[in-house]
Amino acid sequence: MSGLNILVTGGAGFIGSSLCERLVAEGHNVLAYDSLFRGRESNLTSLQDHAAFQFMQGDVRDVDRLDEAIEHLGGVDIVYHLAAVNGTKWFHQAAHSVIDVNINGTLRTLELAMAHDARYVLASSPEAFGEALQQPIQNGNDMTFTDPSLHQRHSYGASKYLDEIASQHAARDGLDVRIIRPFNAYGPRLLGDEYGQVVAMFFHAILSNEPIQLHNGGMQTRSFTWIDDVVEGFLLAGLRDKSLQDDSLSGCALNIGSTEEVSIQSLQETLFSLVSNDETWAKELPKIVRVEGYHGDAARRLPDCSQAETLLGWKSTTTLEQGLSIMWSALR
Ligand SMILES: NC(=O)c1ccc[n+]([C@@H]2O[C@H](COP(=O)([O-])OP(=O)(O)OC[C@H]3O[C@@H](n4cnc5c(N)ncnc54)[C@H](O)[C@@H]3O)[C@@H](O)[C@H]2O)c1
Repeated sequence: MSGLNILVTGGAGFIGSSLCERLVAEGHNVLAYDSLFRGRESNLTSLQDHAAFQFMQGDVRDVDRLDEAIEHLGGVDIVYHLAAVNGTKWFHQAAHSVIDVNINGTLRTLELAMAHDARYVLASSPEAFGEALQQPIQNGNDMTFTDPSLHQRHSYGASKYLDEIASQHAARDGLDVRIIRPFNAYGPRLLGDEYGQVVAMFFHAILSNEPIQLHNGGMQTRSFTWIDDVVEGFLLAGLRDKSLQDDSLSGCALNIGSTEEVSIQSLQETLFSLVSNDETWAKELPKIVRVEGYHGDAARRLPDCSQAETLLGWKSTTTLEQGLSIMWSALR
C-alpha cells in the first residue's frame, strides 16, 4: 500500500517524528499534528520541504482543529494516535492533564476515525497493566492499579487502560483498530531533561557531568527498545491489511519490545563502559546518587512479544549495546 493519507497525532514527539519520516519514505501523505507540549518542530526538520508532508500545531482535544487537519490532508485513511502526556514526572505533577489529554484525546480521535471510516492505531503502554505483577506482560494478565490515595503515578497507566477499553469498544462497533504497546523506546530524540526518560537522562548526565540518579537501588528492570524497531512495529501494525495468519488485525493489542531484560543499574554500567571505551571522550564520568525514586514504579516490565511476531512478523533486532552506541555517536 502506498499513497495513503495518514494523520499522526503527537507527530512532533520522539516516536511520532520518526514514524512520520518512515511513512513519508514509504510513499504516504502524512500530516503530523501536535500541540508541541513536549514535541519539537526541529524533530521534523528532515521533512519540512517534502511535498508529501505537513505539520499542524493543534490540541488533540480540539475537534474543529482536527477537522481542519483532515481537510488539509485531503481525507484520512489511517489515524496513528500517539499524542499523550508522557514522562514520569508529569504523571505525579500533572495528573489532571495526563488524564484529560490521554483519555479525551483518544475519544476525540476515535470519533474522528469513525467519522472517516479510517483505520486507527493506538499507542498504548505496558503501564496499562499498572503494577504489572505478572511477568512477562501479555494479554490476559491482570491489570492492577493501587489505591489512588497513595500517589498519582497511575494517572498515565490507567488512562492508557481506559484508552484500550475505548479502542476495543470501537473495534467491536466495526472500526478497524490496532493497539501497540511500546516498551521503553530509546533513541537520539528521547528527552533527557527532568521530565524525560531514563536512557536519555543518563546520557544527559554524562554529557553535562551532572550526577546520575539511581532510583530505588537500580534493581528494577526494563526492556529497552531501539526507536527503529519500535517504528517498524507501528508501521507494520498500521499498514498491514491482514495479519500473517490471514485474520483481521482489528482488536489486536500487541507488545512491541526488546526481550533483553536489563536492570537500571546495569544500564548505567553499560553506559559507563561505552563512554570509558571512547578514547576521544576525555571527561570524567558523573557521580552516582542513590535516591528513593517515584511511587508506583513497576519492579519489572518484560514483554511477551510472541503475538507481534506471529501476527506481524515483528521482532526487535537491535541489541541494547548497539542502540546505545548509535545514540552516543549521535549525541556526543
Ligand atoms: N517512549 C516510550 O517508550 C513509550 C512507551 C509506551 C507508550 N508510549 C506512548 O507512545 C506515544 C508516543 O510517545 P513518545 O515517547 O513519542 O512521547 P512524546 O512525549 O515525545 O510524544 C507525545 C507527543 O504528544 C504531544 N502532545 C501532548 N499533549 C498533546 C495535546 N494535548 N495535543 C496534541 N499533542 C499533544 C507532545 O507534544 C508530544 O510531541 C505516547 O502515546 C506514549 O504514551 C511511549
